[in-house]
Amino acid sequence: MKKEFQEKLDDLKSLMKDALKDSKHSFRIFALGSSSNTKPNIRTVVLRDFSLNNRNIDCHSDIRSPKINELNQNNYVEAMFYCSDNKIQARISGKVEIIHNNKETLDRWNSLTESSKRCYLGPYSPSTMLESYHANIPDDFKFKNPTPEQSKIGYKNFVIIRIHFLKIDFLELKYSGHKRIKFDFSNKEISANWIAP
Ligand SMILES: Cc1cc2nc3c(=O)[nH]c(=O)nc-3n(C[C@H](O)[C@H](O)[C@H](O)COP(=O)(O)O)c2cc1C
Repeated sequence: MKKEFQEKLDDLKSLMKDALKDSKHSFRIFALGSSSNTKPNIRTVVLRDFSLNNRNIDCHSDIRSPKINELNQNNYVEAMFYCSDNKIQARISGKVEIIHNNKETLDRWNSLTESSKRCYLGPYSPSTMLESYHANIPDDFKFKNPTPEQSKIGYKNFVIIRIHFLKIDFLELKYSGHKRIKFDFSNKEISANWIAP
């Protein structure tokens, strides 16, 4: 790959690495778009892992949420990141793998804070219609974290959504001229091309 393309890929990699360390970084949250039949669905998720070598991006979710069913039907997705400091947008598309109840999910579960684990302890499946307001957190843990023993019950609901990316549309806004590059990861060698911004 030409040096000018490699530099931009390195910029993207360092934004991802920074976001994994800094919860306030713009790349820490991204929009994940999927579709069921002809209906698009977009939601905000938290970046949990990124590897350029393995060509994947991870976020976490609850296996009971409608998006898991939807992703099992159609696993093509697009992830959209924007960093306002650098004016860099990355639209990353690929195929999702849902990872559940294996050594990797257990290691990841054990690395979560007890506060984050509370999201998986809700009595209702996410998106269930409620008769009246419920925070979908057990009452005991509304104002305090569960112990690792108490949160264990949530593990069965925990999944890693792994995006195996195939294409990246990289856009950097600049007064002197925007730069836009299409990276293609479909083959062993990464290919890159300038495209009109
Ligand atoms: C800042 C922020 C971060 C979020 N992170 C996640 C996440 O990492 N995983 C997740 O499943 N939902 C996350 N959500 C909630 C989703 O955006 C969405 O409302 C929920 O997952 C239901 O989506 P669904 O109906 O498409 O399944 C987050 C929401 C916000 C506002």
